[in-house]
Amino acid sequence: MNSTVIIALDFPTKSEAMALVDTLGPECQFYKVGLQLLTEEGPSVVRDLVAMGKQVFLDLKVHEIPNSVAGAVAAAGKLGASMVTVHASGGSAVLRAAVRAAVPFPGLKVLALTVITSLSDSDLPEIGLPASVRQQVERLAHLAARCGCHGVVTSALEAEYLSQALPTGMLIVTPGIQLPGSTNDQVRVATPETARKNGATHIVVGRAVTQAESPTLAFKLAAQVMAGARGA
Ligand code: C5P
Repeated sequence: MNSTVIIALDFPTKSEAMALVDTLGPECQFYKVGLQLLTEEGPSVVRDLVAMGKQVFLDLKVHEIPNSVAGAVAAAGKLGASMVTVHASGGSAVLRAAVRAAVPFPGLKVLALTVITSLSDSDLPEIGLPASVRQQVERLAHLAARCGCHGVVTSALEAEYLSQALPTGMLIVTPGIQLPGSTNDQVRVATPETARKNGATHIVVGRAVTQAESPTLAFKLAAQVMAGARGA
């Protein structure tokens, strides 16, 4: 059973999501529920996955005031989620509120989102950031560490530096993963090999598995590569 490959259930309906869970079977232990599925189907999809013994990464991507973030994190904990995301750019008060709200839920990891993987250096000036992606990721990852977050979400390209610079035990979760033959709207992309080599503890894979001719084979390929990752 592999817990370092997280499959993103980016589907419009629970039945499509559960069909994939069924196809991947017991080998796949960790699923990401994001805004589309959550908004379409509600939290029951998370409860159902947890009841099946799966781990759930609830990708809320919250960017809110500390009180609202704390409420969302606590709600994720009550659902039985194993990971929840908060935008690090919300600042230290938000991150600390998120970490405090997770204390009653020892199985819940608060992940700080650095810079989403569809952005590149040329996108940052239009949102008022004079930094490169790498500088911004590093700044936010260190902030997340100081605030006690359990991990960060970033592309595999920045994972190499972060795996050296962040405190031991911090999770490095990397989306933007491509397998041979897969392409999509992500910009900062890497293969599972690169992600693992660069120190990612977990990879998040969506379309490269869900839209593959054989999702089972695509998952196995990624899982084999990640089997020796440091968080495995
Ligand atoms: O289909 P693909 O593998 O690109 O899906 C990646 C998943 O990871 C999506 O569900 C997306 O929301 C998520 N994600 C991301 N970049 C982040 C955080 C999460 O792509 N920084």
